[in-house]
Amino acid sequence: MSTLFDRHDLAGLTLRNRIVMAPMTRSRAVTTVPDAHTATYYAQRAGAGLIVTEGAQVSEQARGYLFTPGLHTRAQVTGWKQVTTAVHAAGGAVFAQLWHVGRLSHVSLQPCERAPVAPVAKAAAGVQAFGYREDGTPGQMPVSTPRALATGEIPGITADFVAAARNAVEAGFDGVEIHGANGYLFEQFINGGLNTRIDAYGGSIANRLRFVLETVDAVVAAIGRHRVGIRLSPFNRVFDMPAFEGEAETWMALAHELSTRGLAYVHLGNREAILAGGGEDFLRAFRQTCGGTLILAGNYTRDSAEADLDAGLADLVAFGRPFIANPDLVERLRNGWPLAHADGATFYGGSTAGYTDYPAYREEAQPA
Ligand SMILES: Cc1cc2nc3c(=O)[nH]c(=O)nc-3n(C[C@H](O)[C@H](O)[C@H](O)COP(=O)(O)O)c2cc1C
Repeated sequence: MSTLFDRHDLAGLTLRNRIVMAPMTRSRAVTTVPDAHTATYYAQRAGAGLIVTEGAQVSEQARGYLFTPGLHTRAQVTGWKQVTTAVHAAGGAVFAQLWHVGRLSHVSLQPCERAPVAPVAKAAAGVQAFGYREDGTPGQMPVSTPRALATGEIPGITADFVAAARNAVEAGFDGVEIHGANGYLFEQFINGGLNTRIDAYGGSIANRLRFVLETVDAVVAAIGRHRVGIRLSPFNRVFDMPAFEGEAETWMALAHELSTRGLAYVHLGNREAILAGGGEDFLRAFRQTCGGTLILAGNYTRDSAEADLDAGLADLVAFGRPFIANPDLVERLRNGWPLAHADGATFYGGSTAGYTDYPAYREEAQPA
């Protein structure tokens, strides 16, 4: 018996189904301000029970790629208002993903061309940023070597997340998702292989979790726990994140800490890497420890999504790439209609092509 199309109570917010649109950077905010095309793109996909937006940087320092939107200026708040208004008018719900890339940036993207910040001054090997070349044109380039944050600077970044979360509420979002996944700033602190700091933010598990938990607590205090979710990616190896001793123990400690906070949800973005690194036992233990709504993402099809919901591995399932090419993904899944394939060449940047021009199945099926 399928539960994919059932409603779900997300901390008081009724979702119309259990299908989440996963956060996806699309790099179309040329001035870092979302525009009418952004609003159209998300409204087309409002059939999802919940949309989580692309990562939105919480400050200039938080940025790692050109053309990603922010949530730290008045103009950005005004831009996002168009998006939330359009999604709500279409009956959807939407959380903003709040992002700080940490060391995964380039000096050309940083205020006054300073070094990006990280727990330690170690560059991510083999990782590209999307910034400005020396001649001022946009392009791919190796990420810059970061500088280690001073202990006293860390509360300032937490304050940036709080300000961005307040901005999100002002812009009409139903909540925020703290981006603690995919090798970005919080994961750089959590990772015991990278974070060799000797202050209160490095070393023991409690110290490595301190930054993300202080930020969760501060954001919860500002906008309420029912409006706060978090995305994590245990055992991910993207962006030069090394394996480390006590990895499962670290993530389980975080699950335990989060369980005491009663957030709207915890979102794991890398189902396959978790199963490869920790196995199904880890996933079940993590879910049981967290309590509350758990979202899982990673290469889902209708069948595998239903199987995971039926097996009690997750409460909600997130689809990423299928939502790019199928604005009406929920209807297609419900009716068993074929799915269009997303063109990787237009994932990032460019115009409305590959962004707002994927047709719904009903439009596509209309005779000309
Ligand atoms: C184009 C693209 C951009 C992405 N951007 C983000 C992002 O901004 N934040 C994030 O947490 N994950 C991001 N992801 C990861 C997705 O949220 C998702 O976890 C991943 O694509 C796996 O789901 P899928 O197999 O259904 O696509 C991105 C993925 C893609 C394909």
